[in-house]
Amino acid sequence: MPYLVAIGTMALMAFSVALVLAIVNNLLRVEGEARVAITNDGNELVLPLGQNLMAALKKAGYDLFAQCGGKGTCATCRVKVLEGLPPEQITTAMLGPLSDKLRKEGWILSCQLTLKNDLKIELFKPLVMGWPQVAGAAPKAEEEPKAKLSPTAAKLRAVLPGFDCNACGYPTCEEFAEALASGRAKLDGCYPGGAPVRQRLSQAAQEAGVKA
Ligand code: FES
Repeated sequence: MPYLVAIGTMALMAFSVALVLAIVNNLLRVEGEARVAITNDGNELVLPLGQNLMAALKKAGYDLFAQCGGKGTCATCRVKVLEGLPPEQITTAMLGPLSDKLRKEGWILSCQLTLKNDLKIELFKPLVMGWPQVAGAAPKAEEEPKAKLSPTAAKLRAVLPGFDCNACGYPTCEEFAEALASGRAKLDGCYPGGAPVRQRLSQAAQEAGVKA
């Protein structure tokens, strides 16, 4: 019987020690650092916990387009989280205006994410305007054959920024221009371009006789 009491006491002590270690570890994590691995260029950033991800990336030299300036409305700061963000931590604000397709693929708005743990992310290359100088260098833009456009679509395409960002719902600016030319898309669909592109697009559409 006495040895049962001894075993019980030891188990209780082990549990208490584990609990204290877990609490200490948690406290240290809150004031600690997170490692953010970026798959595009193999870089790994060590960032303070509690920092805004978009701000941290920009500070590190990743010039995300971020058209709305962090208001969570344009989706041009999006990153795909490959590891480190369980579904229960994803908030409505992190998803913002992203389409269902992009949500399912794991994209979130970096301007709405506060660093709480290590992450592995992929940046959306067409909307990264500048890259830091790191070993492995910035990924090169892939040359893809562009679709042949109708004359009207070509006029509209000429005023689009060419990011192929998919924010308008079309995979390329060419397809968006073609959709505009045939009246399937709206003139205010180019979020990254903002007001300047909207105005030029509206003028080009008027000149080309497009009703949109
Ligand atoms: S900067 Fe516009 S949604 Fe994040």
